[in-house]
Amino acid sequence: MLTQSGKGKGPDLRLINLSRLPTFLIQYPRMKLLLIGSGGREHALAWKLAQSPLVARMWCAPGNAGIAEERLAKHGALVECVPLPAEDLPKLLAFAQQERPDFTVVGPDNPLAAGIVDLFQANGFKIWGPNKQAAQFEGSKAFSQDFMERHGIPTAKSGTFTDPVAAKQFAASLDGRCAVKADGLALGKGVLLTTSVREAEQAVDEIMVSKAFGAAGQRIVIQELLEGMEISLHALCDGKVAKLFPTSQDHKRALDGDAGLNTGGMGAYSPAPFLTDAELRTVGEAILQPWLRGCAADGIDFRGLLYPGVMLTKSGPKVLEFNARFGDPETQVYLTRLENDLVELLLASCEGRLADHELQWSSNASVCVVMASGGYPGSYPKGKVITGIAAANALPNTKVFHAGTALKDGQTVTNGGRVLGVTAWAKDLATARNAAYAAVEKIHFEAAHFRHDIAAKALPM
Ligand code: AMP
Ligand code: GLY
Repeated sequence: MLTQSGKGKGPDLRLINLSRLPTFLIQYPRMKLLLIGSGGREHALAWKLAQSPLVARMWCAPGNAGIAEERLAKHGALVECVPLPAEDLPKLLAFAQQERPDFTVVGPDNPLAAGIVDLFQANGFKIWGPNKQAAQFEGSKAFSQDFMERHGIPTAKSGTFTDPVAAKQFAASLDGRCAVKADGLALGKGVLLTTSVREAEQAVDEIMVSKAFGAAGQRIVIQELLEGMEISLHALCDGKVAKLFPTSQDHKRALDGDAGLNTGGMGAYSPAPFLTDAELRTVGEAILQPWLRGCAADGIDFRGLLYPGVMLTKSGPKVLEFNARFGDPETQVYLTRLENDLVELLLASCEGRLADHELQWSSNASVCVVMASGGYPGSYPKGKVITGIAAANALPNTKVFHAGTALKDGQTVTNGGRVLGVTAWAKDLATARNAAYAAVEKIHFEAAHFRHDIAAKALPM
């Protein structure tokens, strides 16, 4: 905020307007930040948050092997991983009471749905993410569906059921062309897509009778099966204002050509060229304006990240679901394009000051290819030694985000289904894609599995 100095005279102090210094610079001269989570999304968040000159100390609970290697831009200290599970709210609160973080950032959905924001706020801590009421947009598909229908947000035709017989009747009325969804959180896997009445009935039985997704399936939502191009939207919200991100696209199925089972996400890229900037603004407004009005009418104070999954159908964009957190792996491509200080943005979101901020994006395209353990999304082995990460990171405009990794006897080993998010950015999508796959080629672990067609839909073949 020092303005241009006169030649050789140092800054002209008359030009500094103290009243315009951002309050957070005064409030947090040496900010201590706690990040919660351990996946690829959290590594991308840690990497970007660590670049903020505001942050003097950062913990991540529980973090992963990649997060533990990140250094703060301010003075080079490492991010400190603490072995506390993201779902263990009492232990996280006890840690906060001991270390007194100035700001806590929550990555995953589970602690949000369990009310970590309410708990931390009640104990006097500043924390970013939606409170328990607002997190229901993700925690309950029935809540979201009801909200969308009441407030005129474009979505699929749907019904909500606790009785399997009524559910099957509704599925039959759609000729069995349905998305059958467990109401609660199910690690992104609680959705079965069906194209015949028999399949739809089996799906209802699987979720409601065999309880394939446990208690999450006590209630189900059945939507008509929509066709079209699916994109991810993200908007940062502060309770009053929602700031839309550029487009991105995830690849949910395990295998090339969108075959195989649904996963948490096998790769992403941004921007996705299926909407022009003007169309994106129109789609964003068609969803976010009624959503903001609905939140105000229902007394929902949503301060966090709203992530609508959207199908671009022949009859217009339709919301398939809302998530109440950053996407994974969308975060990896968004944060390699975001030019703002992420700490400032998340503080503004938390404090209701987003109207003062414009999101700034680089014109680069970014591509993330997820390398997964053989067998994922089914069962898979852990503890496989990973080589080549440093060689991949040494490539220009490339960052390997860790998801399921751990350190064992000085070696980085696999420790989850999605293991790495190999991300590269460049002036155009084709170059970014080639760079991401060049980095993937450098990395090896036994039975590594990745899709070969990330971003291919967006490029002429
Ligand atoms: P969700 O967790 O609700 O986003 O569903 C997971 C995935 O299932 C989505 O990313 C879509 O690919 C697909 N899906 C969900 N709902 C529908 C629908 N109504 N029609 C077609 N595909 C859907
Ligand atoms: N990219 C899928 C998700 O974050 O749910």
